[in-house]
Amino acid sequence: MELDCDNLKISLQKKGRLAESSLQILKSAGVELESAGGRLLARARNFPLDVLFLRDDDIPEYVQDGVTDLGIVGLNVLKEKRAQAALLDYLGFGECELCIAVPRRSPLSSFRDLAGKRIATSYPNILTQYLKEKSVDAKVIGISGSVEIAPLLDVADAICDLVSSGSTLRVHELLPIEVVLKSEAVLVANPSSLENSDRSALIDRLRARLRSHLQARKTKYVMMNAPEEALEEIQKILPGMKSPTVVPLAERGMIAVHTAVPEEFFWDVIEKLQVTGATDILVVPVEKMVLS
Ligand code: PRP
Ligand code: ZN
Repeated sequence: MELDCDNLKISLQKKGRLAESSLQILKSAGVELESAGGRLLARARNFPLDVLFLRDDDIPEYVQDGVTDLGIVGLNVLKEKRAQAALLDYLGFGECELCIAVPRRSPLSSFRDLAGKRIATSYPNILTQYLKEKSVDAKVIGISGSVEIAPLLDVADAICDLVSSGSTLRVHELLPIEVVLKSEAVLVANPSSLENSDRSALIDRLRARLRSHLQARKTKYVMMNAPEEALEEIQKILPGMKSPTVVPLAERGMIAVHTAVPEEFFWDVIEKLQVTGATDILVVPVEKMVLS
């Protein structure tokens, strides 16, 4: 298969923490790929899009150089590579933290203790800048992998590495003492692609679809029954979406109220609703949200 010049191109991580979810989020945006099984290139069946599967460390530069218009990559990799790629959207998966950690039995216990010490990392750019901003004069030792064994080999006194589940740190008896960067998957774009009207129109279409999925993921649809006189109170509790749908029930004086609730307020809202006399509260996930 060859690349189609008119198609939008996106690079995704081939293997690793973001690979599966990156494919999944395209799927949630209604983009279906012709079989991707093990290949480096796949075409979307129902959207003018070609997908390239690459090593995550290469994605920022490929996007900068216009090899692909878009990329999905960890914010950590984007920042470390310092590529000229525009950050478009946070995608809400692949959350992890770039942390400084020290051996459990080390005399070092806080970030300030690191002055004059050696920190091993595969994120030398991010770490160097962070140390400079915080005025901590430590020595950054750049290594490309297996950072967690550097203290054991006495190559370093501390490490700075990604922490997701925390199990790598636990296994190597390392304790996190400082969060340098909170990271998650982001959508990035080649700046010239954003300037090109055909390309940017396609990018906008794809982003609108991604947004409707992301928004929906953060929203629950709540249905409840309540006495009519509780309506005013209920409306005060429901956070500022649009006004709820209110339907009279067969039972006199009773109504059904339907509305969307952002996940962050969810339990708060439900608990307050119960106090108003709302009953039979039903909560369903939202599949897509297209807001104008
Ligand atoms: C990171 C990091 C650790 C591990 C931490 O590597 O270097 O090895 O993940 O995850 P945990 O807290 O869940 O144990 P990653 O898998 O991103 O590989 P890469 O840096 O080679 O891309
Ligand atoms: Zn990697």
